[in-house]
Amino acid sequence: MNHLVSPSILASDFGNLQRDIEMLNSSEADWIHVDVMDGLFVPNISFGFPVVEKVKQHAQKPLDVHLMIVDPDRYLERFSKAGADIITVHFEACTHLNRTVNAIKELGCKAGVALNPHTPVALLDDIIEYLDLVLIMSVNPGFGGQKFIPNTYKKIADLVKLSSGRNENVYIEIDGGVDEKNAQLLIETGANVLVAGNSVFSAPNPIAAISKLKH
Ligand code: DX5
Ligand code: ZN
Repeated sequence: MNHLVSPSILASDFGNLQRDIEMLNSSEADWIHVDVMDGLFVPNISFGFPVVEKVKQHAQKPLDVHLMIVDPDRYLERFSKAGADIITVHFEACTHLNRTVNAIKELGCKAGVALNPHTPVALLDDIIEYLDLVLIMSVNPGFGGQKFIPNTYKKIADLVKLSSGRNENVYIEIDGGVDEKNAQLLIETGANVLVAGNSVFSAPNPIAAISKLKH
């Protein structure tokens, strides 16, 4: 599978959100990564439904919605209605993960599970067959622009092993501190979706930065 790039609009200019989404439409980005934070699961608040709806209105690419919220079951339907194509919930935020994953699929969305840096990949052993996507956090969630945690490579290798022969097509998405320096090794290790916030939106030429992450 050729790898995908999912720029995170957390690092975009919220005062010019339409402009930034149109930039992503005209770029080689595959998905648009939408980080929702509730101030409880993570120590930061980002944005909610009205913003996701506006993003959807302008976006010509699938919305890859990453829910950093407690008890996400309460809001799955609303995020689906707001325009999410992929909904990723945190392993650490779900008591009945199998039920949550089924609920996401019943809404017609692809279902992802995110792991915090300290959460072992092995905990997915009894659910890996049911997942469309696993998001490996390569920073502690809550903020853009943090330093990449190198243990991520080991976790990607663990996930490749776990999914091999059981769910070969699972998306292995890496989120946090991804840039043109670590992108290639991430892909070689087995990642197939790269999220990038600051390395795209702080670049002098974001379209060129996305293209570098793609090739
Ligand atoms: C962090 C978010 C990330 C963030 C990545 O909690 O999940 O998606 O936007 O930003 P960068 O690429 O700047 O680390
Ligand atoms: Zn994210």
